[in-house]
Amino acid sequence: MFFHLLVAIPLVLSQSAGGKDCVCELQNSDPAFPENKLDQIGFTASQCSINITSKKMTEIDRLALGLHHRILQLLDNVSMLEKEDNGNLYAAVSLRIIEIELAEVQDLLDKLNRTTHSYQQLSKHAGAELRGMEKTMMELEKLDHTQVMVKQRENQRIRRDLERCKNVLNSTLAPPTISPGHCGLGRLVNVSEPKTFSLTVYGTSYVFGAWGRDTNPAPGDENKHWLVVLSASNVFGNFIRQYSSLSTITLGIFPTDTYISSANPTTNTIQGPNMVMYGNALYYNCYNTHSVCQFNMTAKSVATVSLPSDTGFNSKFPFGHLGAAYGYTDMDFASDESGVYVIYATTSNFGNVMISKVETSIPPVLGQNWTTSLHKRTITNTFMVCGVLYATRYLDKEMEEIFYSYDTKTNEERYDLRIHIKKVEANIKSINYDHRDRLLYVFSDAYIVRYGTMFENVYQM
Ligand SMILES: *[C@@H]1O[C@H](CO)[C@@H](O)[C@H](O)[C@H]1NC(C)=O
Ligand SMILES: *[C@@H]1O[C@H](CO)[C@@H](O)[C@H](O)[C@H]1NC(C)=O
Ligand SMILES: *[C@@H]1O[C@H](CO)[C@@H](O)[C@H](O)[C@H]1NC(C)=O
Ligand SMILES: *[C@@H]1O[C@H](CO)[C@@H](O)[C@H](O)[C@H]1NC(C)=O
Ligand SMILES: *[C@@H]1O[C@H](CO)[C@@H](O)[C@H](O)[C@H]1NC(C)=O
Ligand SMILES: *[C@@H]1O[C@H](CO)[C@@H](O)[C@H](O)[C@H]1NC(C)=O
Ligand SMILES: *[C@@H]1O[C@H](CO)[C@@H](O)[C@H](O)[C@H]1NC(C)=O
Repeated sequence: MFFHLLVAIPLVLSQSAGGKDCVCELQNSDPAFPENKLDQIGFTASQCSINITSKKMTEIDRLALGLHHRILQLLDNVSMLEKEDNGNLYAAVSLRIIEIELAEVQDLLDKLNRTTHSYQQLSKHAGAELRGMEKTMMELEKLDHTQVMVKQRENQRIRRDLERCKNVLNSTLAPPTISPGHCGLGRLVNVSEPKTFSLTVYGTSYVFGAWGRDTNPAPGDENKHWLVVLSASNVFGNFIRQYSSLSTITLGIFPTDTYISSANPTTNTIQGPNMVMYGNALYYNCYNTHSVCQFNMTAKSVATVSLPSDTGFNSKFPFGHLGAAYGYTDMDFASDESGVYVIYATTSNFGNVMISKVETSIPPVLGQNWTTSLHKRTITNTFMVCGVLYATRYLDKEMEEIFYSYDTKTNEERYDLRIHIKKVEANIKSINYDHRDRLLYVFSDAYIVRYGTMFENVYQM
């Protein structure tokens, strides 16, 4: 990033070395030199360089990066709307969503504006563009939805505005740096075809759930597989099903069920499809709160820890895509060789993803936190490998894409991964990574699927 401090005041700088003193003399060529103005600029400049610590730079970078990608995505959204040739309600609803999105982008710009003077120029330009876009959006919304879709001209204008906006942001962004990962695997570079998949014993009506293996198993439990299907309203679960092996879970035979409660839902039962099993305990979003639940499979007891009070829950910041939000997916859990993480979004981070380490003590406590620029509602899921968070998005009903990564060691984030996941069903509801077999355990609309992974330094999938 570059900072230009332009002081547009005509002045002459002369230096006279008389005797022992070195004197710097400021002379102005204009009659009424605004001395106090210069003082002020000098003061501001010094304040500015004090204020812009590397931490702040990172924050600005992060915000600008997020903004950049949100705008790119909006561009996608607009062209998506353009492609829809006949009007329907969906289009009108989409417009409204984009409008909300624009308001959030404006919030981000305001934050950027407040963060430092150096971005004011940028924010001013981008802000003007956005206000123009918002106005256009409102005009569009007033039209009925059939007309909306044939209004090519407005769409073209928005596209042009977005393009300009994008370029303004582009010009100041440093390219994202490559994060190597920290287990000697290197970066994730590809994902295999679906390896094994099968319909769960619950059948096709239960499309939200999760499965996997305990990623820190007790001796003797190494091969156990667990499965949780949200059996009430596709939102709530109250028990964990375990199988002794991959074959038994694939065939759906000889399960063992462990109940958190006989009621569903009730205090501390499971809400939402994202969870992990670690050290013989299940970690998940507790029913109707912004808390993390830890269910001890042996003691059958629950311990909890609260996330910040402005954490979204009950579908405030869910996963999703243009076509759908996945209900009650506000919280995601990931585990890798370094432990358990919770992925969520807060109002103070504008609905963007936060990562917190969950220390697996009893009760669990929150460890380190990371703030990202990744907007939670635009992604479909996350998982963690070697301390690097990966996020997916919906491309179409055949393909999902791993497009984003955040390295918790270096705080580097990148949005340019293009790793495709071939789906067996249209929606991915949960993804868990097991560092022992380096497989992804995916729950895709009632189907349980595994995928191999390929890293820079490990090619076998
Ligand atoms: C620098 O930070 C101080 C305290 O946070 C603030 O009062 C001041 O306005 C800042 N100055 C600039 C130039 O950003
Ligand atoms: C940023 O702040 C300046 C004043 O400090 C204001 O003139 C400008 O409109 C603001 N930009 C945006 C995008 O809000
Ligand atoms: C902006 O970035 C995109 C990709 O990130 C690139 O294709 C485009 O050429 C860039 N535009 C400018 C003006 O640099
Ligand atoms: C990535 O994996 C897919 C299978 O999912 C395969 O078709 C493709 O060729 C692989 N790409 C690379 C670059 O290895
Ligand atoms: C679970 O409970 C058992 C028995 O009370 C205890 O020995 C174990 O440490 C607990 N484990 C976790 C992860 O809570
Ligand atoms: C815009 O499109 C992206 C990618 O297609 C999608 O994930 C996102 O949800 C859309 N945004 C809105 C506000 O609909
Ligand atoms: C992370 O955030 C949580 C909740 O705000 C807080 O309790 C915890 O102390 C934070 N961790 C660190 C290392 O600051």
